[in-house]
Amino acid sequence: MTSELKDLAVSIAIEAGELALRRRREGVSVAATKSSAVDVVTAADREVEAFIRGRLAAARPGDGFLGEESDSALGSTGLTWIVDPIDGTVNYLYDIPSWAVSVAVAEGGTDPATWRVLAGCVVNPSMGEVFAASAGAGATLGGQPVSVSAPSSLSQSLVATGFGYDAERRREQATTVSRLIGEVRDIRRMGAASLDLCALAAGRIDAYYERGLSAWDFAAGALIAAEAGAVVEVADVREGRRLVAAAPPGIAEEFLSLIRETGA
Ligand code: IPD
Repeated sequence: MTSELKDLAVSIAIEAGELALRRRREGVSVAATKSSAVDVVTAADREVEAFIRGRLAAARPGDGFLGEESDSALGSTGLTWIVDPIDGTVNYLYDIPSWAVSVAVAEGGTDPATWRVLAGCVVNPSMGEVFAASAGAGATLGGQPVSVSAPSSLSQSLVATGFGYDAERRREQATTVSRLIGEVRDIRRMGAASLDLCALAAGRIDAYYERGLSAWDFAAGALIAAEAGAVVEVADVREGRRLVAAAPPGIAEEFLSLIRETGA
C-alpha cells in the first residue's frame, strides 16, 4: 500500500515538475504576495497545484488535500495529501535551479504532531533529480538508495538552514545563525526546505534546521531524510513557529541540543 502511494506521488510529482519547468522556460512573474511583500506566488505555483490536485482527485477521490496555494479539503479515507507545488518559489522566480515539487501522503490528519507520513516524493526538475521514500522502506534518489553522512563531529558538519518571509523573524534567525556558525564547518542557505532535507538524505550536507516551516515545506522531505537514516525532530517551540531539525545519529544529540539552546 505505501509503495503504491509512493509510486503515485512520484509519477504526479514528475509530471508536475515538467509543467513547472515548461512555465519557467516561458518566463515567470509575480502574480501576488502573501504573508509579506517578499512572500510571492507565481501563476505557475497555482497552476501546478491545480494540476496535482486534479490528478490526485482522479486517482484517489476519497483522500484529503492540504496544499500551499488552495483551500484544504478533508477526505473520507483517513489519508491526506500534502503538497507544495513549487518549494523555493523565490529561486523559481530568479531562475536559480534549486526549487522543487513536493508531494506527500499522511495518515492521522494534517498536524505534524499527530500525522504519520506514509510516502513522499521531492522532484528537482531543473536537475532531473527525484527523491522518494515510503515509511519503513528507505529513501532513494533516482531509484537508488541514499543514506545520510557520518560526520566525525559537529565542528566538521556542514549545516543548512532557511529563513522566513517576515523581516522580524529573519532578524531573529540571523542571530541564531551567528551563534551557530562558529560551532560548525559552515552554513548553507539554498532556498528550498524540501531540497535541504533531501540534501541531508543524500549526504550532501550534514544537518538541517529551520523554524517557521509549514507542513507542505517538509512533509515529504522529512520522511526522505528519516528514511535515509536521519534523526528528525519536529517541535512546536512557539505557537505557529514550528521547528524542524534533522541530523545523522552520530551528531544528532549534540546538534539538536545546540539548536534548542540557541532558541532557533
Ligand atoms: C520556502 C522555502 C525556503 C524556506 C521558507 C519556505 P516556499 O517555501 O522552503 O527554503 O526557508 O521558510 O517558506 O515559500 O518557497 O514554498
